[in-house]
Amino acid sequence: MSMPLLFTPITLRSVTLPNRVALSPLCMYSAKDGLANGFHFSHLTAVARGRAGLVFTEATAVAPEGRITHGCCGLWNDAQVEAYRPIVDAIIGFGSVPAIQIAHAGRKASVQPPWKGSTPLRAEDAATGSPPWECFGPTSEPVGPSWHAPTAMTEAKIQETVQAFAAAAVRAAKAGFRVLEIHGAHGYLIQAFLSPIANKRNDRYGGDLAGRMRFALEVTEAVRAAWPADLPLFFRISAVDGTAEGWSLDDSVVLAKELKARGVDVVDCSAGGVSGAPAFRANDSGQPLRTRAERPPGFQVPYAERVRRDAGVATMAVGVIIARDHAEAILQEGRADLIAVGRELMYDPYWTLKAAESLGCDPGNKMWPDNYGWAIQRRSEIMAAAGRR
Ligand SMILES: Cc1cc2nc3c(=O)[nH]c(=O)nc-3n(C[C@H](O)[C@H](O)[C@H](O)COP(=O)(O)O)c2cc1C
Repeated sequence: MSMPLLFTPITLRSVTLPNRVALSPLCMYSAKDGLANGFHFSHLTAVARGRAGLVFTEATAVAPEGRITHGCCGLWNDAQVEAYRPIVDAIIGFGSVPAIQIAHAGRKASVQPPWKGSTPLRAEDAATGSPPWECFGPTSEPVGPSWHAPTAMTEAKIQETVQAFAAAAVRAAKAGFRVLEIHGAHGYLIQAFLSPIANKRNDRYGGDLAGRMRFALEVTEAVRAAWPADLPLFFRISAVDGTAEGWSLDDSVVLAKELKARGVDVVDCSAGGVSGAPAFRANDSGQPLRTRAERPPGFQVPYAERVRRDAGVATMAVGVIIARDHAEAILQEGRADLIAVGRELMYDPYWTLKAAESLGCDPGNKMWPDNYGWAIQRRSEIMAAAGRR
């Protein structure tokens, strides 16, 4: 039997991923002063121990004001490099490739973590050690009525932020990361500039598509110049805003071509977020789909497929990809080059190894770390003898 594509290595620049499964970036909201800690170590290394080929950190802020919450990781100082280093080393030790997503939350910064409602921090939260901070956006328009009114970014602030992304890329390389992703999705700063819903500027960073793309492309150019030339660069997009007047899939194809021309190797195709809501997709008539039931498995895969086909760039598909044979089919059908898995890998860090077993390419549990594999093999024999899986 030929090797399933999910377990066929892929080489991007000088980096070979042992398989096509990526842990999608997942905020843990558990850092202090932007420093990764033992929780991040256990979160990320569990998935590496489970043999995901590519392991992404959470959105890591390039500046303090670019955090979503007080608990977000950052990469604006060297102590944060040192905090990530043991995690990077452990991921490599498991044979996975360590990857980092760098981000700026823009006008969606300064909120509570999800388990406290994701609501904007208030002055009274200072009493519990979580004061709000100044947020920045393309204009002073907030995401919605209950959100912080951001400070409209001057050109000087835009340039400072471009440089913060570049500096974070340098630090990411120092920490030993081998793949870097720019977070250009979910209504955070870069996507707020891209989307006509959020970007109402009338200078050269707003207006038409070229103007709205300018900030994203300047960040990409600065990061590509700062990030080692032999290492791959990813860019996460919100492929659609999900409303008729918003960012469209056609816009994403234009952007992806520009990103590719600037040295982006993989476009990671997510969606939504500019209006504060999670990723929604538009239905065929352009109406947003707003219920969980309307986000079936693989609902964002058409975006990865279209961008891959029409921009001629490698893509990563993400969003409710749960079944192993579904992940394999997406690759077999040429709809994406990599599969990012988020919540399913939180639920089961061994998802990748179980995929290998169920796709028939790890019959002897040889893909498990040695110290687990022999025992898991015994377990399999016992289960088989008992007529169970
Ligand atoms: C707890 C949690 C944290 C997330 N944090 C990030 C993040 O830091 N950066 C990002 O681009 N997406 C983030 N996302 C979105 C995921 O990366 C992923 O795109 C989304 O969960 C859909 O994939 P899934 O259905 O496999 O979970 C987060 C999602 C969850 C559930």
